Amino acid sequence: MNEQTQEKILIIDDEADIGTILKLHLEESGYLTEWARDGEAGLAMLMNDDFSLVLLDIRMPRISGVDVLHRVRAAGSDVAVIMMTAHGSESLAVECMRTGAQDYVAKPFDMNDLLQRVERALANRQTLLVKQRLEQEKQDFVSMLSHDLKNPITAVIGSIDIMREGRLGPVNSEQAEYLESAIDSCNEVVGMIDNLLDIHRFEAGRMPMNVRPCSLQEIITAIRDRFTLLAQREEVTLTVEQDQSLPTMFIDRIALTRVIANLLGNACKFTPPNGVVRLSCRVISGKAATDMSPPAYASAQRPELFDQEQLLCITVQDTGEGIPAEDHERIFERFAQSQPSGRGHGGAGLGLAYCKLAVNHLGGIIWVSSTLGTGSEFVILLPCQEGQKPESTAKKP
Ligand SMILES: Nc1ncnc2c1ncn2[C@@H]1O[C@H](COP(=O)(O)OP(=O)(O)OP(=O)(O)O)[C@@H](O)[C@H]1O
Ligand SMILES: [Mg+2]
Repeated sequence: MNEQTQEKILIIDDEADIGTILKLHLEESGYLTEWARDGEAGLAMLMNDDFSLVLLDIRMPRISGVDVLHRVRAAGSDVAVIMMTAHGSESLAVECMRTGAQDYVAKPFDMNDLLQRVERALANRQTLLVKQRLEQEKQDFVSMLSHDLKNPITAVIGSIDIMREGRLGPVNSEQAEYLESAIDSCNEVVGMIDNLLDIHRFEAGRMPMNVRPCSLQEIITAIRDRFTLLAQREEVTLTVEQDQSLPTMFIDRIALTRVIANLLGNACKFTPPNGVVRLSCRVISGKAATDMSPPAYASAQRPELFDQEQLLCITVQDTGEGIPAEDHERIFERFAQSQPSGRGHGGAGLGLAYCKLAVNHLGGIIWVSSTLGTGSEFVILLPCQEGQKPESTAKKP
């Protein structure tokens, strides 16, 4: 007897004959069954027992099948429901399917058809339960990541930093270098966890954007300061080009900083020694943006963007290994890495997935142009909504 035939079915019908016939056929097919003579009795049995499916008559005295269905769903039950309807009330049955029934059968039954529908409804319920379990596991994993993994790593970074600063005793330059490299590795893991957490939040629609007037000048300067050292360590030259006076923009400073940081981190990682990484930030016209001919996978994300008079254009260019054309769209999906560049560099394939979600949420688009062997250019276009008072991040004297 397979697992499916062990499932328990409740028949709710005020006609005892129908209850008996259905019980007989369903039990012959290997299901366990119970019969309830009215909605009230049926609801009580559903509360006290674990049924996989209910065959529910629509027309019953006192509580109708429609009311039973509403109460079952209001109680949060995931039991599958097949409505049983008299000939001529199919429209009511269809209505029930909108409010949580899986299927309906019209009386008088074709027993083979009914058994097939029962089998299908039970299989669909199983699929749904597996999906729900996976979703729950995903939630548990994400909260484990943030609490059980990120917090301790952050504490480790803090402790190493105290040592590196020499606050626990003198540290020579070689030791300081090793401690710095330990901090870098920990930060890399924290970055991956942050990307994963935020991707999850975006996908669940739970990622608030903190959009306020920010000085682009300050954002770019802070990023340049942060990456100059990393570029030196990777033995690549980092150059930054920007408009003379970048505007103050309505933007989520943290999100934009993390997007650019992901792109610069990749560029430094995938560019061999003596290469060049160039960050550029400028304001361009909608017409100039159209002339850049973004690929369809990017422009389709925000077609209205090109109607804007002014756009913020941020590019990160490198002289690295490049990315084959067939991977250009795919690398923006989570866990996607391209060969050969992805191989041997570690990482989880999450950075660009975060960038795409964040840029889209900021109303912009992102794409890559790249030729194998000559380097890559990542381009971001954002709507340029200039703000009045910048939210300064510079330290006050
Ligand atoms: N500048 C680049 N040059 C060459 N390949 C790149 C570049 N940027 C990204 N890629 C390719 O795209 C893939 C996906 O990048 P992404 O940032 O999403 O993941 P990752 O850097 O591998 O890991 P993570 O960002 O999670 O640490 C990379 O593994 C690499 O194959
Ligand atoms: Mg990356």
